[in-house]
Amino acid sequence: MYTEKVMEHFRNPRNVGEIENPDGVGVVGNPVCGDLMKITIKVDDDTISDIKFQTFGCGAAIATSSMVTELAKGKKIEDAIKISKQTVADALGGLPPQKMHCSNLASDGLRRAIADYLKKNGRLDKIRELGLEKELEKMEKGEMDDHGELCEV
Ligand code: FES
Repeated sequence: MYTEKVMEHFRNPRNVGEIENPDGVGVVGNPVCGDLMKITIKVDDDTISDIKFQTFGCGAAIATSSMVTELAKGKKIEDAIKISKQTVADALGGLPPQKMHCSNLASDGLRRAIADYLKKNGRLDKIRELGLEKELEKMEKGEMDDHGELCEV
């Protein structure tokens, strides 16, 4: 059911934990299963120099988050926000369809962490330029996300 690469990232996840004094924090709940994700980032010159994740998600969430952190590290923020669930699934050699929603957790968390970083630096123009207004609005309202039913898959 899972590719070797998924299993390898699940057994050996990269960048697990929380960065001390992060430049940006993104917390998100998965609307499909209600699982949670926290992403912390360090940013230098609009480039993600470090990134870590913590999740209460399933095995696929662990593997996809691990891959998101690898894909995002060293990227400019405008490129990092383009990491989609499909990018992550492709990098892992595929995911079962019923697990595609799991790969949203880390990429959504990353978008929020970037929006948080820009907000803390008073760069609302950049938030608009990158289309992160929705992320900002949800964070300001304290919304984790629309929690769905607990995952049964
Ligand atoms: Fe909830 Fe995968 S993240 S089932």
